[in-house]
Amino acid sequence: MIRLNLLVVGTGYVGLVSAACYAYMGHSVTCMDIDKDKIDRLKRGECPIHEAGLSELLDPLREKMIFATEPPQLPNFDIALLAVGTPPLDNGAPDLRFLFSAVDDLARFLPKDGVLAIKSTVPVGTASRIERRLARLGREDIVVVSFPEFLREGTAVHDTLHPTRVVFGVENVRARDTLRQLHAGMEVTAIECDRRTAEMIKYSSNAFLATKISFINEIANICAKVGADVSVVAEGMGLDPRIGNEFLRPGLGYGGSCFPKDTRALVKLADDIDYDFRVLKSVIEINQRQRTAPLRALREWFPDLDGVVVVLLGVAFKPGTDDIRESPALDLAWELAARGVKLRFCDPVVGPSIQFDDAPVAVERDPYTALDGADAAVLVTEWKEYADLDWNRIRGLMARRYLYDGRNLWNPGAVREAGFILENVGRGILRG
Ligand code: UGA
Repeated sequence: MIRLNLLVVGTGYVGLVSAACYAYMGHSVTCMDIDKDKIDRLKRGECPIHEAGLSELLDPLREKMIFATEPPQLPNFDIALLAVGTPPLDNGAPDLRFLFSAVDDLARFLPKDGVLAIKSTVPVGTASRIERRLARLGREDIVVVSFPEFLREGTAVHDTLHPTRVVFGVENVRARDTLRQLHAGMEVTAIECDRRTAEMIKYSSNAFLATKISFINEIANICAKVGADVSVVAEGMGLDPRIGNEFLRPGLGYGGSCFPKDTRALVKLADDIDYDFRVLKSVIEINQRQRTAPLRALREWFPDLDGVVVVLLGVAFKPGTDDIRESPALDLAWELAARGVKLRFCDPVVGPSIQFDDAPVAVERDPYTALDGADAAVLVTEWKEYADLDWNRIRGLMARRYLYDGRNLWNPGAVREAGFILENVGRGILRG
């Protein structure tokens, strides 16, 4: 194996996990971030994000890795991975300011003939744009490649060490060889293509997965009305290998830092070339509507929601992460707060507080404490901690017994037997 000198710029989920995994694979890794606090925490041996297996992976590697806010005196990197955030702008396009500012910094110190790989999710054509920008800064020697990321939060370490595929958008032999060396020993299919195709693979993958989710959510809504059980429908569909059983779990819609942003970005990209991407526009609209599905049930149960105490079980956008970006819980909370609902947030990992409506609000860790005296609860995130709740105990705690299972996590029979009124996604209303 050839040991490469790797620089990773940006220590978010993508950057830090990639850095740890490449260090684990035997490469020399330097992590850079402009966030001094994050770098200090990493130097102190802390892990700034909640990600399964990351601390365990990092701990024995820390001595070998370098964490810095400034470039080293004598940089000798074979390849730099750019993994800074590209948050959405109001028009749906990603904000590339952090990316360009990092590129300008890299132009000052990357060694001659360096390879710059773009990990951040960026619109088609960005790698070429960055190359032109570098050329204007006198760095036409740097080769820019598109190297999109497919890891999921919560299983990021596993996804990076055992990827389903790697995509190298590379139009230069030297850069291609560097990417191959970086993954030497890894058994994985590599798609080697031009940079625009690589950038498009990333957007298309996320858009397709988002489409699957909105599709099953629509099916769930129909199932609820016709008296079918969406879980069994999904199982029956998923056994067809052309459909596949993954990403057919109905719920309160997709969230996180990727699907909402990337679907909007792809619609914007299509709009910019006068292409009306109708399927994807509907996917986004359905997702937005799905987030507030519990509101319809709550309004039926409580014609006047003012003062009603509702517990949101789960704040993270999905289990296994402390990430609340674009979490359905927040959109739902806004809608409920606007109607005078007294909200209580509960999550096993997020907290002890979050910013909501420009103020810090507490996030309760223990569901039983959160449910004490509440009128209703909505399960937003399917944390395993909420799978086997003691319904008899909860019956004694809650003031009124209305439950909305937004992820079809609970056994409807057990909940009904305990005397609750329960609504699910796509399984109709079951009255106790
Ligand atoms: C997603 C993709 O799965 C990764 O492949 C990709 O690399 C990443 O975005 C990215 O672009 O960086 P992630 O956002 O971590 O990863 O989360 P997912 O596990 O894909 O879940 C996304 C959302 O879909 C969550 O809110 C989840 O609750 C929801 N979901 C997922 C459903 O509602 N139903 C499902 O069946 C599956």
